[in-house]
Amino acid sequence: MQLKQIDIGGLKTPNNVFLAPLAGYTNAVFRGMCYSLGAGLTFTEMVSAKGLCYDSAKTRDLLYITPSYGGIKAVQLFGGDPEFMARAARSEEIAPFELIDINMGCPVPKIYNNGEGSALLADMPRAAELIKACKSSGKRISVKFRIGLSAERIVAEDFAKMCEDSGADMLTVHGRTRDKIYAGEVNYAEIERVKRAVRIPVIANGGVFCGADADILMERTGADGVMVARGAMYSPWIFADLTGAPLPDRRALVLKQLDDTLSLFGGRFALVFMRKMAAFYIKGQRNSSALREQLFMCDSVEKLREMIASTEF
Ligand SMILES: Cc1cc2nc3c(=O)[nH]c(=O)nc-3n(C[C@H](O)[C@H](O)[C@H](O)COP(=O)(O)O)c2cc1C
Repeated sequence: MQLKQIDIGGLKTPNNVFLAPLAGYTNAVFRGMCYSLGAGLTFTEMVSAKGLCYDSAKTRDLLYITPSYGGIKAVQLFGGDPEFMARAARSEEIAPFELIDINMGCPVPKIYNNGEGSALLADMPRAAELIKACKSSGKRISVKFRIGLSAERIVAEDFAKMCEDSGADMLTVHGRTRDKIYAGEVNYAEIERVKRAVRIPVIANGGVFCGADADILMERTGADGVMVARGAMYSPWIFADLTGAPLPDRRALVLKQLDDTLSLFGGRFALVFMRKMAAFYIKGQRNSSALREQLFMCDSVEKLREMIASTEF
């Protein structure tokens, strides 16, 4: 894929291959790992603006940034109330972040029925207010959205123009409609329409699991870059593959991820989280179902470490 820097309102990324926000996955350790593997930009998982204003202790882990993290610090917020979005964007907790991404694509009913996430695709005036509210913090703002609620309700081009007019510095377009959740074809043509409609950088998202997928997504959409989501959960080394960054020994990387997760989030979380991640990483291997069973039988971090140390990734 054609690599280039992306200029987000004056913030320059080292390349145009980004890690998507992934609820439950893109914690500080995983973001750091993907950055070290070549990801040009990483995001926290989605954080509720209202939740942050009411109970910031609950969101502390989600917002943690490792002191050694060398990339642009980007947080994703979600919400439907411009006042809370403005308060969150200006809060002490968000102060360390240089870029705020606004979630306008989440399809989950709990979020959608609250007028948040992908519900904003059907409420452009409110979406515009939310962008302006975040922009009032003085930070760079990006918006991640889907192309529409359904095939009959595609709004990508108009929505993108609204985002740019409201002050967004970058857009990420997930080329699926809300009703498709994460399955189905990516609509390249709609992402291309967005790219033609605005001057700010446009990042294409959806279905990148290998280098060829990224090439096709770039070619068909003319986008400025790609964002990788599930592909990175299964295979974080995809960033080295796409960017040409050096790829260290995979097993050593997973062991480091385990140890860093343990020291940052404690044993209980590290055990549950890293069993799940290791199971993703071995997906597709010949003996993966037997290995998966063994992984889930590990009932201590020590046993898991031993198991990882004897596994090929
Ligand atoms: C487990 C999981 C969690 C996700 N969490 C978020 C999130 O917090 N914020 C967001 O904007 N999108 C989230 N997404 C959507 C992804 O960022 C991405 O848009 C989607 O998976 C399509 O990309 P892909 O085909 O490369 O997976 C999530 C997706 C998955 C599978």
